[in-house]
Amino acid sequence: MGGVDVVYTPYDPSINDDPYPVYARLRQEAPIYHHPDLDFWALSRHADVSAALTDSARYSSDHGPMLDRGAWGPHARTFLSFVAMDPPEHTRMRSIVSRAFTPRRVAALEPMIREIARGYIREGVERGTFDFARDLSAKLPLDVISELMGVPPSDRAEVRRNSDLLVRYDPQGQMADAGLKSIMSLGDYYASIIADRKSTPRDDLVSALVSDGGLTDEEISAFVFLLIGAGSETTTHLLSAAWYWAWRNPDQRAAAFGGAITPWVEESLRYDTPAHGLARRLTEPTELHGTLVPKDAKIWILIGAANRDESVFPDADVYDLTRDTSRAISFGAGRHYCLGGPLARLEARVTLEELTKAVSPGYEVHEEGIKRTAHGNVRGMVRLPTTVRAA
Ligand code: HEM
Repeated sequence: MGGVDVVYTPYDPSINDDPYPVYARLRQEAPIYHHPDLDFWALSRHADVSAALTDSARYSSDHGPMLDRGAWGPHARTFLSFVAMDPPEHTRMRSIVSRAFTPRRVAALEPMIREIARGYIREGVERGTFDFARDLSAKLPLDVISELMGVPPSDRAEVRRNSDLLVRYDPQGQMADAGLKSIMSLGDYYASIIADRKSTPRDDLVSALVSDGGLTDEEISAFVFLLIGAGSETTTHLLSAAWYWAWRNPDQRAAAFGGAITPWVEESLRYDTPAHGLARRLTEPTELHGTLVPKDAKIWILIGAANRDESVFPDADVYDLTRDTSRAISFGAGRHYCLGGPLARLEARVTLEELTKAVSPGYEVHEEGIKRTAHGNVRGMVRLPTTVRAA
């Protein structure tokens, strides 16, 4: 890579605060970038990202989508379920799960999502100042998954405690010890739910998976972990991004509060995408932009960079609710395309609708209190102090 001096180290706090200038340099100067120490290769152009995600024979998912598989230690395969599989196992599991995770089941969640959103928003408006990330956007998605799974309200606080630990990493991207313990507790808990639904089926996702008969208990349990990992923090970051970037752009905020809810969701997904990167393993030596990348190389596919590619999104660094976002890759592409996309969009639409009804558009974000995180595949805000007035 003679002559290239751009350095891109994921999770480096100085890059994580605003990775987009580095992404722009990667796209321009090093479309196939090799990290000298961490030994991964990064793809950042929209065309390359979309080609890699749709070629699952060459770009295998068998190590899981995280850049550092060590983050999950020996538990990687067990708890990442089919997101860490290739065909034919991936095809088999995904088709069984899709039979239970139906559009009807997702659509039926809308009244419940609205109820949950209203409750947290009401609390926020009563307090006036609250943390949008901690008190609203981090809570709602996990409540929704719990509801989908059939976790009774009385158990949710404990499930939340364990799930929060599950996605806590140290600065090197390794899962904290507490996270490994919480995996065990959650595993036991979900085993008890699975056993219960076998004897007493209900109208929930676990009952549907149990009655299908196509998956073992271990496979169902792994899928539940995947739902928490894939569906909770990502949706949290989407909600926070929508709230923050609308605040930063008053003209766009006016459009959002004027009813442009779907464009608000879609542009937030593109502009500050929650799932920033996905890892793959190259199954054969491949020439990329004149460099021969060896078999088994770890490829880091930068969705966050692709969604800001000027050749697809003119003025890509401008947050603009009127733009065409149809080519954004926020939910991935190809065989592993996000199974929860419709649910995530529903949660975001309903929550933002309720916010525009209950809160005045003149809300404030306290920029100095914002805290961002990046680990595994996701990047987003974990602290977002906000002051609101009732609408
Ligand atoms: C897969 C993004 C919400 C469940 C994925 C992938 C992406 C993604 C990029 C592809 C992974 C890969 O190719 O390796 C997002 C974003 C979300 C979101 C940005 C929110 C804004 C959800 C929700 C659920 C969910 C709410 C379910 C409750 C899944 C599952 C997979 C997946 C099960 C694995 C699909 C497979 O491997 O075939 N998601 N996701 N996601 N997502 Fe989501």
